[in-house]
Amino acid sequence: MRKPIIAGNWKMNKTPEEAKELFSELIPLLKDAKCDVVICPPFTALCPAKKLIGGTNIHLGVQNIHWAKSGAFTGEISADMLKFFGVEYAIVGHSERRQYFGETDKTVNMRARAALDNGITPIICVGESLEQREGGETNAFISSQVRAALNGMSEAEVASIIIAYEPIWAIGTGKTATAEMAEETVAMIRQTVAERFGAEAAAAVRIQYGGSMNPKNAASLMAMPDIDGGLIGGASLKAEDFARVVRCDEQ
Ligand code: 13P
Repeated sequence: MRKPIIAGNWKMNKTPEEAKELFSELIPLLKDAKCDVVICPPFTALCPAKKLIGGTNIHLGVQNIHWAKSGAFTGEISADMLKFFGVEYAIVGHSERRQYFGETDKTVNMRARAALDNGITPIICVGESLEQREGGETNAFISSQVRAALNGMSEAEVASIIIAYEPIWAIGTGKTATAEMAEETVAMIRQTVAERFGAEAAAAVRIQYGGSMNPKNAASLMAMPDIDGGLIGGASLKAEDFARVVRCDEQ
């Protein structure tokens, strides 16, 4: 049985002060959550986050991680820096990083490797564009993204990571993939993992859906057999909405 995992990706939102406020609202709302809950605030909120969520059931994640231990990598952040704050998860290869900041399959793989080597669980994002979906290229494209991101991992490592399927056309657009459409692609991702890393790793790896997931559509997505959680953008910025997504399969 895979435990569901819901993660909030705050993207480039919330000053440290605003983050404090949102964490303070979230802590009581999420305290009885039945699933794993992760919040990925911006780096500048890690300090207040560490203070506020220590001892709660909220796990701390980040939105990026560099592959080197330290060095001349202006604007990047290392695993050692993140571990200081108790970071347990790192989003890697988000489509916004791939699209705007030159992230490639190779750098996604290197970042995921650094996370694993430092005891941080990577949340590896994959997803197709609208053009690719309409052109019937979704499965080939996503399975190649998955194979590249997981390259060099052991079966046990693959079993421990999170993969997030985020169709680019559904991110921030209000257009969600239907639950059936999301399930079909997530099941295909699990099949890709099975072919390369075996049935055991495929049965264990948790795969999230992301893209305009909100309190209204979360329950139908979470009811799908292969969807193990969500990576939530916009709806994670409002405490009540995020808490409703987290509680969706408890009603
Ligand atoms: P939205 O929920 O705002 O569509 O964002 C999804 C996402 O990109 C999470 O990483």
